Parts: sequence; structure tokens; C-alpha cells
Amino acid sequence: MRNPIYVALDVPLAETALQLAQSLSSSVAGFKIGKELFVSAGPDLVRRIRDTGASVFLDLKFHDIPNTVAKAVAAAVRLDVQMLTIHACGGLEMMRAAEAAAQETAHALGRPAPLVLGVTVLTSLSNPELNQVGVAGSIGHQVDRLVQLGVDAGMRGFVCSPLEVANLRTLIPESTALVTPGIRGPGDAAGDQKRTLSAAEAIEAGATWLVIGRPIYAAADPRAAAQRILATLEQRV
Ligand code: C5P
Repeated sequence: MRNPIYVALDVPLAETALQLAQSLSSSVAGFKIGKELFVSAGPDLVRRIRDTGASVFLDLKFHDIPNTVAKAVAAAVRLDVQMLTIHACGGLEMMRAAEAAAQETAHALGRPAPLVLGVTVLTSLSNPELNQVGVAGSIGHQVDRLVQLGVDAGMRGFVCSPLEVANLRTLIPESTALVTPGIRGPGDAAGDQKRTLSAAEAIEAGATWLVIGRPIYAAADPRAAAQRILATLEQRV
């Protein structure tokens, strides 16, 4: 079975992140580095984690004019990350430019292009808040619309809530990757996550990769926690 777990390294210190990466690298598919860790530890940490052989998902959610996003994506490709995020609401041209920059830079370096993932509607936004920023209609409608636009722009993957996976699978090509956070097992604390599924349920619904943070990195034994989650996936096969 393919291991679908990316662990979110939502810790402030490079050394803590590296220790987690070293102890977990044989139990997971890779590690997600977000804004806090990247702003404090920088590209050097990405290189150090890549040096352990682990895959990296650089979750910086780029949102800017197409030229600027394309250059940031090219820089991420040079860091040799395997996945990265952009905001789909940056528009068709921005998504096209990001995907082209990933393909062209990777081709020039002779390596596979990373998966550029579109982020649709932030899960922290409620429907009235979405309407407040000028988007009429429902969150679900806006997610579907942005995913469709992303597919038209040549995007090969999206980030979504686990509860959106089954519906999106009916709208997108089978090869399109869906990456989902919000994974919680029956015994896990939900924390600030409100709409969750277990790892097995998310994979069953059609998720390609799972981003799991606190249930692994905050566990007393992170490696055992990762292996327990993996075992629930293996039972399905
Ligand atoms: O600790 P937890 O498993 O909730 O971590 C989930 C990770 O996925 C965090 O890094 C969080 O920022 C990220 N994420 C999320 N929901 C989104 C987008 C990203 O939980 N909609």
C-alpha cells in the first residue's frame, strides 16, 4: 500500500522539526512545512529535511500576480519540494503561470515537477464571511467553481476538507490529486478542527494524500501514532 501521510511540522524550532522528521521518516510519506516554520527557519530547513531523503510539502499558499507567483514556484522547485500550495482565487492566469513554472523549472533541472496544489476557500471562513468579501453564494458552490477553474488552468491537485472529497471526485479527472487536512481518529482531540474524518474514511472517499498534524507530532510517541494510523489504512486493503 502507498503511504499517504504527510505530517504537518507545526512546530516553531528547526531542531524540533528535524528531530520529528528523523524519527518519522520511515513511517510517513513526507512532511508539511507551513508559514511559521518557514518564516523562522527558512529554506535551509527545507534542504536539511530533503537531505534526510524525506519528501517536503511547502505550504506557503502563494497569492500574487502571475509573474510573482511563477517566480516563487520556480524557487520552490529549486528547493526540490514535492508539493506546494497556491490560492486558486488568484485566478486562471495565475494558476496557469504557477503550473507552467513548476513544469519548466523541473524540466530544466531534470527532475519531476512538484504537485502544485490549489487552495480553494479557507476552512476558517463561514458563509457570511465569504459574502462579506464580495463572493455571493455558498462556500460549496465557490469551492466547486474554483476547482473547475483550476482544472481548466491545468492544475493537477487541490487541497480540500475531507468532507468535500467525495463530491469533488465527481467533478475532476481521476488523476487529479486531493490533499486533505482535518484528519482525526475516534480517540483524537479535535482541537480547532470542526469537520473531520478518520484517515481510512478520507481515503475511502477518494483523498490522495492526508495531512496530519497534532495527532502525530503532539503524541507521546509520534512514530507509534503514525504507525497506528497507517495500520488502520492497511486493514482496508
Ligand atoms: O494538527 P492538525 O492535524 O489539525 O493539522 C492540520 C494541518 O493542516 C495544519 O498545518 C493546518 O494549518 C493545515 N490546514 C488545515 N485546514 C485547512 C488548510 C490547512 O488544517 N483548510
